[in-house]
Amino acid sequence: MELNSPFLQRRPRRNRASESIRQLVRETNLEPGHLVLPLFLIEGNAIHHQIPSLPVAARMSLDNILRTIESAIGLGVNSFMIFPAVPEKNKDKIATYSYAEDNFYLEASRKIKEQFPESCLISDVAMDPYSSDGHDGYVENGKIINDITLPILAKMSVAQAQAGFDIVGPSDMMDGRVGIIREALDKAGYYNTGIMSYTAKYASAFYGPFRDALDSAPKSGDKKTYQMDPANSREALIEAELDTQEGADFLMVKPALHYLDIIKNLSANFDTPIAAYHVSGECAMLLAACQNGWLDYEKAMPETLTSIRRAGASVIISYLALDFARWVKR
Ligand code: PBG
Repeated sequence: MELNSPFLQRRPRRNRASESIRQLVRETNLEPGHLVLPLFLIEGNAIHHQIPSLPVAARMSLDNILRTIESAIGLGVNSFMIFPAVPEKNKDKIATYSYAEDNFYLEASRKIKEQFPESCLISDVAMDPYSSDGHDGYVENGKIINDITLPILAKMSVAQAQAGFDIVGPSDMMDGRVGIIREALDKAGYYNTGIMSYTAKYASAFYGPFRDALDSAPKSGDKKTYQMDPANSREALIEAELDTQEGADFLMVKPALHYLDIIKNLSANFDTPIAAYHVSGECAMLLAACQNGWLDYEKAMPETLTSIRRAGASVIISYLALDFARWVKR
């Protein structure tokens, strides 16, 4: 028998009484079309090297990347962020290989767009995959030199646009890069190529599995002179202001889960769509707990991604994109 307490005027539980009602009042919807799947590309054929610290991801050659993209599109995930694992012999101080004619990354983009013209391909613009120093910018006497890096990033971006990337993704955190990239793209006629700027990218401990995948950890020092201090929130507004002025089409917050407050803050203050990068270490934590049987993946995975969307992200970049899309289908 239900006790009746007439003094309770408001009963929020009424709107939770059945799944039908819960659907009516659900505030956040996450669909596979909101997700971007990151992919690690390596030169060669028939390669599929699972990343031990990130078991949902693999270093793949183009043939396997094409197969993955085909099945992703079948599940409603149409956007992809491609990262290259560049052989050490192709690295130098000025990242020459990043815009070389025979670059396998640019070649792959052409092939992917040829086969899947409706897909959205997002690039990575930064020196670190191609740099013998392993830093996102040009290194001189142990310092990262901002203004020498900018024209290199601009050249890289134009080469990527030319290779078919729909959106370039500057992830380097140099000052002024969005403006110089926008100008270079426009000058070269790529005024329809978008820029997803890594606006608030933090010097985070959660990039470990990604650096394992690409072997891209800095050879010396850390990234604290260009990536943001995890203790800072207001500084993200300065970065967002500048990126907006310089012409960014998306503002990214990275990592996502540990920076939900930043996502919320940017989405409240800017009308440019917010992208959130659910990074390798954040995925790895969840996977490890689930593999141990400590968390239920089928429940924790969608809850995790929904929390990022609820905070204000339009776009979520996650290694779990395919698992989420499969879960939606079931
Ligand atoms: C580097 C880059 C990094 C990631 C994306 N681009 C790592 C870094 O800054 O060292 C990390 C992504 C992830 O951890 O999933 N330009």
